[in-house]
Amino acid sequence: MQLTQKEEKMYQGEYGETIRKSMEILVALGDIYDAQELVDITSAQVSGVSYKTIGDAGMEYLEDLARDPQAKTKIPSTLNPAGVDLDRWEELGFSPEFTHRQQRIVEAYGKMDVMTTCTCTPYLIGNVPLQGSHIAWSESSAVAYANSVLGARTNREGGPGALAAAICGKTPCYGFHLEENRRANLLVDVECELQGADYGALGYLVGQTVGDGIPYFTLSNRPVVDNLKGLGAALASSGAVALYHIEGLTPEYQNAHPEEAEDKITVTWDDIQEVRENLSTSSEKADLICLGCPHASLEEIRDIAETLQGKKLKNELWLCTSINMKAAAERMGYSQMIEQAGGKLVCDTCMVVSPIEELGFEVIGVDSAKAANYVPSMCGLEVVFDDFKNLIVEK
Ligand code: F3S
Repeated sequence: MQLTQKEEKMYQGEYGETIRKSMEILVALGDIYDAQELVDITSAQVSGVSYKTIGDAGMEYLEDLARDPQAKTKIPSTLNPAGVDLDRWEELGFSPEFTHRQQRIVEAYGKMDVMTTCTCTPYLIGNVPLQGSHIAWSESSAVAYANSVLGARTNREGGPGALAAAICGKTPCYGFHLEENRRANLLVDVECELQGADYGALGYLVGQTVGDGIPYFTLSNRPVVDNLKGLGAALASSGAVALYHIEGLTPEYQNAHPEEAEDKITVTWDDIQEVRENLSTSSEKADLICLGCPHASLEEIRDIAETLQGKKLKNELWLCTSINMKAAAERMGYSQMIEQAGGKLVCDTCMVVSPIEELGFEVIGVDSAKAANYVPSMCGLEVVFDDFKNLIVEK
């Protein structure tokens, strides 16, 4: 890979040890993927935050890095969800031991100037890259959103790769950074109209077929932004999709060259219903409903608050979101409506990356295909996948 003079100095350690180590990671990635050069980035989104997933080794690695005063991000960088709600952890039942370690991880990132937003929907809270800009994001659902809906350019970075990119302000230029790798290779003709959790079911189905390819959807009705975040999250969880196009809607569909795609599938209403049924591992009622995967938008919070008006829930309800959305929901009165029904707005974390399995729940109800896919394997709990209103049990 060709480095500029300045990059060569960074690589040789003239700007300090952390920048040298970070360049080492970027150059190694570039060599693996045959990149010709590094490219400047305008934004990073860093995963590898929950103590549940990175453990003591990850925590100590980050604390070591953060001790170096040179270890500061060069560009706006935000953080993925952590393992607990950093404010309400005690009330939610998370242990002080786990929480203490989680706080150390978040503090280490904060010292490196990664904004400790702890959300997987950074694009809802101001980390919004422009179309065509190069970025290094690592949360897979956010990567799918950034590439597909915003038209920015990122590979599916690992946590250390995204952090190294944030510290150097650069990433290796390969894969989705290059125009020629953004063309569709599977046509998906969706014959039925979709709503709510159907988008996740569609993403789950197509992700299994396309793997790490690029699907090009022709839809029968027009989705809204919240549908797209659910679709992308599911595509990225059953497959490894980082980019999709929707005819007439997403910013790059006209450059996607669908006529060159090798395969085509048709998705019917029966296909969607079959996926919806298969994603549930239990026919029991959920003892915890867990929504907000990816983290809920203000509109989603409002819809849930309105659905709950006048109801008292028998099952517990967590609605996962960012602290920014929670603040807006409080101002609008949505938070209070949810709490009055017995639910909670939960920030900074989610049903997959928190140690939810330690809290005594057995069946988790979700309306996200990504969560339905991961809760059984990552938490060892049963899952029911359905639209929110069907998961409610009233007192
Ligand atoms: Fe976000 Fe957790 Fe889902 S990180 S995309 S809410 S699994």
